[in-house]
Formats: sequence, C-alpha cells, structure tokens
Amino acid sequence: MTVSTFDQNYALDLAQVTERAAIAAAHWQGRADKEAVDQAAVDEMRLRLNAIRLDGVVVIGEGEKDRAPMLHNGERVGSGNGAQVDIAVDPVDGTALTARGGPGALSVIAVAERGTMFSPGSLVYMDKLAVGPEAAGVIDLEAPVKHNLEQVARAKGLDLDQLTVIVLERSRNQEYIREIREVGARIRLIGDGDVSAAIAAARPETGIDVLMGIGGSPEAVIAAAAMRCMGGEIQTRLWAGTEQQREYAADHGLDLQRVITTLDLVGGDEAYLAATGVTSGEFLRGVEFGHDQAVTHSVTMQASTGAIRYITTYHSLARERGD
Ligand code: FBP
Repeated sequence: MTVSTFDQNYALDLAQVTERAAIAAAHWQGRADKEAVDQAAVDEMRLRLNAIRLDGVVVIGEGEKDRAPMLHNGERVGSGNGAQVDIAVDPVDGTALTARGGPGALSVIAVAERGTMFSPGSLVYMDKLAVGPEAAGVIDLEAPVKHNLEQVARAKGLDLDQLTVIVLERSRNQEYIREIREVGARIRLIGDGDVSAAIAAARPETGIDVLMGIGGSPEAVIAAAAMRCMGGEIQTRLWAGTEQQREYAADHGLDLQRVITTLDLVGGDEAYLAATGVTSGEFLRGVEFGHDQAVTHSVTMQASTGAIRYITTYHSLARERGD
C-alpha cells in the first residue's frame, strides 16, 4: 500500500460536496432548464468546497466548453490551508440529461497532488479507451478495435458476444460503433455522461466492460482519477474535430497522435474521487426526495488505499434549514 501524501482522508469531505451539488441539481430534473441545473450545482459545489481544509487550484473546471463564470480553470478553492492539491470538478456530468429527466447524470469531483493533473487547454475532446482492473495493461489505443476487444474479452474470460462496450452516441463515434458491431460485441449507447460510463466500465456490478469513443477532455481527466483509485486504465488522445482546433493544436505544439495514459492524466501517489448520482444510472441511484428529506447515493475512492465506499445518506432538509 502506498502511504497517502495528504494529511487527512478527504473521502467523506468530498462526498459531502457532491451530495449537496447533486441535491441542488436534482430539484431541476426534467424541467428543461440546463443552465439552472448547472448553476444550482456549481453554486453549491463551490460553497461546500470552500469549507474544506484544502488549498486547491481548479485544473479542470466548468471551463472551456461552457464558459462558466465559477469553478473556472485556475480558481483557488478550499479554505486555503491543508493539502496543496489540483482539483477537477464536474458539478453535473449530464446537465442536458438532468434537464430532460434522462438517466445517468452525476456530480463528481477529483483531487490529486498539486501539479499532477493534465490540463487539456482548449482542446475539449479526447479519444478514450477505458477498462477495469482485470483488463488494465492489455489495451492499446493505437491498435484496432478488434484487437482491443479480443484482449479485454480474453482478460475477463468472456466471449466477444458477452462483452459490453459503452459508447457516447455521437456522429463522431459512428466508426467505432460500426467496428464494435462487426466484431460482434454488445453495445450500450448513452446520450451523455461518459465519466459515469468510464467508472461503470471498471465496476463489476454494472456489466459494462469497456468505454470507447470520443468525449470530453475534462471528463477524461476525472475518469483517470477514478481509474487510479480502482486500478483500471484509461488511454486517451487529444481530438481536434475542426480546422480551428487543429490550428490550435499546431500553434500550441500539441501532438494529436500521442497516447496520453492514466498516469499522464493524473500523476502523483494520491488521488481522491467522490461522485453522487443526480439521476439514476449504471452504478449510482439518483437523488430521491421525501417529506423534508433527500436521499443521496454516492461513491468515494482513494488511490493509495484502493478503498471504494458506497454511501447512502439521508439528509434532513428541515434540520438543515434550522426548522
Ligand atoms: P456536461 O453535462 O458536463 O455538459 O457533459 C456531458 C457530456 O456528455 C460528457 O459526459 C461528455 O464527455 C461530453 O458531454 C461530450 O461532449 P459533447 O456533448 O459536446 O459531445
């Protein structure tokens, strides 16, 4: 076991942050207001994060794609003392999902040692291949889809038609979908939320074996923190879908061919991740409201110990209001 470089265990503190953000977002479920979902979660996440004994810099924030005013890249968060850390936030991964009442949205936060998180800059998409611990070490993003699926199937003792690959349904992923079908593996298509999908690929209870396809770069960094904790693996490559993005990559010396590994995305010895379901998904149930009560379902993970905790919390809304 690696010894933690942090002076305290942050798992529960971080779960309290995602719990509150998830509850705030869940009030807006199905109300067709994506901005309100996001704003509610961002406000709550920032407030709760600043109460934690941490000296944090947001490396992955609401950032580039959404041009959000808070929890932006470079923002200092936490109480200002305590461990010096990099922070990756996604107050709601699946804001559009939540707004339309779809499944699989979660609130998530990852923390790692200062200077160890990859910053994708303005290149907001990455090609991703992620697997759980049984298949870590046998995948290769540069190899054909068929090779990777055969490798994962062998490592997990499955036939190809028993393997389930989760893919974000986008036109840019159509070639992946075609190749996976050709190999004869099963597909689970999702409309949004590939942080949840990456974690699902590494959790035995989900029946998902692999995440493949092009999704958000910030989400890849968060997924890498989860993989560090779970012993899984994610390989990525920056993806430039437009001429403007290709020019940006060239101007900034970014190599679009380079395979960026789990450790490139989140290095160091220690990392934490906490996630709370906003709407029910592959491995976390969404927020449930009762009379003056909210029930949340979360997971926390720590890299150095490999501890994964599932937490159900019954929040007394009346007491929190001081009634
Ligand atoms: P947000 O809810 O944070 O906007 O992200 C949802 C999401 O589906 C991510 O899970 C995924 O990585 C990304 O968007 C894909 O981007 P796009 O919707 O632009 O294809």
